[in-house]
Amino acid sequence: MKEVVHEMFSEEQIEKRIAELAEQISRDYSGKKVRMVCILRGSVFFFTELAKRMTIPVTIDFMAASSYGDSTDSSGSLEVRKDLDDPLDDLDVLVIEDIIDTGTTLRKIKKMLMGRNAASLKVCTLLDKPARRETEVEVEYIGFTVPDEFIVGYGLDYAQRYRNLPYIGRLEFIEE
Ligand code: IMP
Ligand code: MG
Repeated sequence: MKEVVHEMFSEEQIEKRIAELAEQISRDYSGKKVRMVCILRGSVFFFTELAKRMTIPVTIDFMAASSYGDSTDSSGSLEVRKDLDDPLDDLDVLVIEDIIDTGTTLRKIKKMLMGRNAASLKVCTLLDKPARRETEVEVEYIGFTVPDEFIVGYGLDYAQRYRNLPYIGRLEFIEE
């Protein structure tokens, strides 16, 4: 099977959108104690670019969780491979995700973090794929909405590959 990546959003488009999100979030969270939570590994580039552009003080923490194996299908179960280093007590928590697909992963992450006494808990995702949603989950900030395609690049992988592409593309599988 041959794989071809077709660009959907250029690096410039992504950076412009991230700057807009950072401006909006900085405004919304002014005066608050923001803890940005990066969900590894997919959201790592989005997370750092967004954090750098925030104009209010923020603190950061990292968590590795996924409900995906090396395929394009969701297994549905959440595996936490690395938990946050610090407590969330009284902080305004902003979870940074790469893509919301079925919504399963995010719902489970939210449920887990909700029990940690944060002042608030909101979500910012680079991509949203609403056509595939299986469970209702609230997402406050969205970078781009994408169609029902398999997306790679800018942190997103297919079998751990393509994460380092500086743009976002859809992956096409061609029979040989
Ligand atoms: P969900 O639980 O179905 O919403 O899946 C969310 C996770 O699945 C994301 O954080 C990604 O790691 C992965 N995922 C879902 N759709 C895609 C895609 O199109 N490309 C790459 N990864 C994806
Ligand atoms: Mg993934």
